Amino acid sequence: MGKMTLAQKIGQMVQTERLSITPEEVKRWHIGAVLSGGGSCPGDNTVQDWVDMNDAYWAASMEEDDGHLAIPVIYGVDAVHGNSNVTQATVFPHNIGLGAARDPDLLEKVAQVTAREILATGVDWTFAPTLAVARNSHWGRTYESYSEDPQIVSSYSGRFVDGLQGNLGTDSVVSCVKHWLGDGGTTDGVDQGDTRLAEEELIRLHAEPYLPALEAGTLTVMVSFNSWMGEKCHGNKYLLTYLLKERLQFDGFIISDWDGIDYLSENYFEAVAMGVNAGIDMFMVSEHWQPFINHLTHHVTRGTVSMQRIDDAVRRILSVKVAFGLFDKPRPAERYWSNHASFGSQEHREVAREAVRKSLVLLKNESGLLPLAKKQRVLVAGKNAHNLGHQCGGFTIAWQGTSGNDFVIGGTSIWEGIQQLAPEAVLSHDGSGRDADPAQHDVAIVVIGETPYAEGMGDIRTGDDVIVQAGSQINGLLKVLEPYGNTMVLADLHPEDLETINTIAATGIPVVTVLISGRPLVANRELDASAAFVAAWLPGSEGQGIADVLFGDENFSGKLSFSWPENPENRKNVGDADYDPLFPYGFGLTY
Ligand code: BGC
Repeated sequence: MGKMTLAQKIGQMVQTERLSITPEEVKRWHIGAVLSGGGSCPGDNTVQDWVDMNDAYWAASMEEDDGHLAIPVIYGVDAVHGNSNVTQATVFPHNIGLGAARDPDLLEKVAQVTAREILATGVDWTFAPTLAVARNSHWGRTYESYSEDPQIVSSYSGRFVDGLQGNLGTDSVVSCVKHWLGDGGTTDGVDQGDTRLAEEELIRLHAEPYLPALEAGTLTVMVSFNSWMGEKCHGNKYLLTYLLKERLQFDGFIISDWDGIDYLSENYFEAVAMGVNAGIDMFMVSEHWQPFINHLTHHVTRGTVSMQRIDDAVRRILSVKVAFGLFDKPRPAERYWSNHASFGSQEHREVAREAVRKSLVLLKNESGLLPLAKKQRVLVAGKNAHNLGHQCGGFTIAWQGTSGNDFVIGGTSIWEGIQQLAPEAVLSHDGSGRDADPAQHDVAIVVIGETPYAEGMGDIRTGDDVIVQAGSQINGLLKVLEPYGNTMVLADLHPEDLETINTIAATGIPVVTVLISGRPLVANRELDASAAFVAAWLPGSEGQGIADVLFGDENFSGKLSFSWPENPENRKNVGDADYDPLFPYGFGLTY
């Protein structure tokens, strides 16, 4: 650090998106990190394209001359359920499904495989695991949460960090726990909204799951977009500096969320100082990194940001790079796991398939309809039966996910998995089930549910008053996106699903419903019309895991990590007063 100029120091504090920066600019401005936002990928999105891109950034950052010091750039991605931006990656169930599995050993394995598939692309860092404790399923990010109960999140957080970071050696990537703090606790489940809790409750529900992750040595923490009691986390010195760095003695670096400081003030110059002085060390700036650098430089010259604060941030960033061994690693293309054949391999997919099996929760099984016999004549229907995009959900190939079978390559749709085990099974020709015929079909599997979404675009917002209230509570700006829907009632949200179930049930064929969803939904009518009902969450690329359990090769073992509501007004979580869900937390039938 003694050799570094102010410009070199400030550059280290910047992370920008790959589309906004060339390798030459990384060198010229001494940029510390680059990222891929959700779905942002080089070339044709092959593993080789990723390695080439990382090689180019790395090489530029490592040139040493009079005006430049060789400090390796670090690259980050949202590998939140496998390295799921990349074609042919193994895509794991989203966290909500892993929560139902209640298996910390499995979690560590999932993290290890994810780390290898990240390393295969020459990347060093993932913005995972998400440690949100989602307390209101209207929130579009509920599926990124393991549970409404902090205990499950705590039982996973350290293990996942261990799986990613290991001994900080050849098999390791840098982990980033997120989003600090209270992201899952906002009023009405509004994404980026306001979490109104007394400090004790904030700590008990939302901070405690971070402790095992900090204990395991997570090298980075991401700040949350939400506010606490009206104050944005991004400008909150108490939460960032006092609580996290001083009291919890976190000595890695804090990164902002995507343009997270932009919402602190309408005046960007002021927002920069607010973020730095609150304790953010590295700034994720999607495009305008140039103004960021100019503003921060001015603040230091004016004294509105101290040199001591800059040095603290840079020391933390460089310490992480040193601890991770980045200075000693060869160029990305020459690293052990780079372009490794294990990427998307059968061995990796087996781990995901195991995770799928363990994540399934059986909610209803009238007169032992399940398990099905493999020789039965099964009709497979429903819009999500043969749709890899839908079964993977958001943060897969694209930020908002994809639809159809053309983008998630190498996986198995739920229909394809069934077909492999039950040769007599047929796929309803248009998915609607109108071709159901008791003379030809013994039983139907109907795969229904949500279609992909991410972040605020997954919110369910019952009315505009919700957003007006959130906006009025927050000191700063609120980003408002178009929500996914306005009701938690599945039959209103997706009437086509109930229609498919009813069409088939009316013929007398018993229906096994498999629900794909990022949250529990009010599904009373679908439950009543089905003889058996399975909550499958967002299982990812290995649809085969569902057939394994439906046909009895494996038993159900998943237990609800979220309470299942009976009516839309019911927002109670386990432990709350007047708790009266349709299926309580921990529920799950077995054979
Ligand atoms: C999300 C983060 C994510 C970041 C980078 C943000 O919009 O809130 O969870 O890591 O984008 O893609």
